[in-house]
Amino acid sequence: MRWPLALALVALSPLVLVAQTPEMFDPASPDAIEIRELFYLVLAITTLIFVLVGGALAYFIYRFRDPPGAPRDDSEPPQIYGSQPIEIAWTLAPTLIVLVLSLVVIRSVIAMRSEPPTEGTLRVRAVGHQWWWEFEYPEFGFTTANELVIPTSDADAPTPVYLQLESADVIHSFWVPKLAGKTDLVPAKTNRMRLEANAAGIYEGRCAEYCGTQHAKMLIRVTAVSPAEFEKWVADQQRSAAVAASVDAGRQIFMDQACANCHTIRGEPAIGKFGPDLTHLMSRHTIASGVLENNRTNLADWLTDPDQAKPGSRMPNMRLSPTEVKQLVDYLMTLE
Ligand code: CUA
Repeated sequence: MRWPLALALVALSPLVLVAQTPEMFDPASPDAIEIRELFYLVLAITTLIFVLVGGALAYFIYRFRDPPGAPRDDSEPPQIYGSQPIEIAWTLAPTLIVLVLSLVVIRSVIAMRSEPPTEGTLRVRAVGHQWWWEFEYPEFGFTTANELVIPTSDADAPTPVYLQLESADVIHSFWVPKLAGKTDLVPAKTNRMRLEANAAGIYEGRCAEYCGTQHAKMLIRVTAVSPAEFEKWVADQQRSAAVAASVDAGRQIFMDQACANCHTIRGEPAIGKFGPDLTHLMSRHTIASGVLENNRTNLADWLTDPDQAKPGSRMPNMRLSPTEVKQLVDYLMTLE
């Protein structure tokens, strides 16, 4: 009785996966739609093969079983050696199937990895770090982290964003299922992908290549906004940090402790590159690469003990007193 149950579970497992990751099947960009179509094509072909092979197997098991009550027949059935037509058929059929699948997939992949068609298209340099994302907008001269903001793209006149993917340490993979397929970020190599969202909204993604202890907490958040809102966002990001004198105590801690060695705050004497750029920290909705909501409590917890939320994080525990944490948070909260 245990075997039928196990087989039923195996047969149903794809349904469980589909229920857990529905985003692939609800695309919001032409590339993601194409990937879904390719998935369905492969699924149709493999389902057909499964039904043919499984059906034949079931039929033969039933057709040539020992009839009930008949004496057991242990004699050897007639042996057949070689058949050229069958050999040719079962070599040719899989070759053709693989060839057709390769051609359609390669055609799509080449289109999705293409160079930006014209000057003036938006380019973003995305760098994978253990365990966060750096997003640089070279033409606008600023860098942000973990939350990528892009303008929506009209389906009739598409304006995709072109990502230049790099890694600062190990292999990561950029995957936002509703918008595009996965592309790896490989050390000492530059990969490309294009990203497009036909509707405004927040699209969640994640690192899709195991990259160390906090791989699971290397989340991506793509916010697509109207082109007008995007322009406003860019202008806001281009400003340097405006810091009030009232948070001088926290500012001093940031510069005196090692914070400034790892983080950049434009307009302040903090030019570190190892950690995320914090110039407009409070314009982001999350911290620690999508792990915590960006608010006063979580910022204080994060500064007190980063290992609590993200064990193994490269953000060190600075062993600050509660007063220092409060002053530091007061300072960070002004980085809007
Ligand atoms: Cu980065 Cu997994």
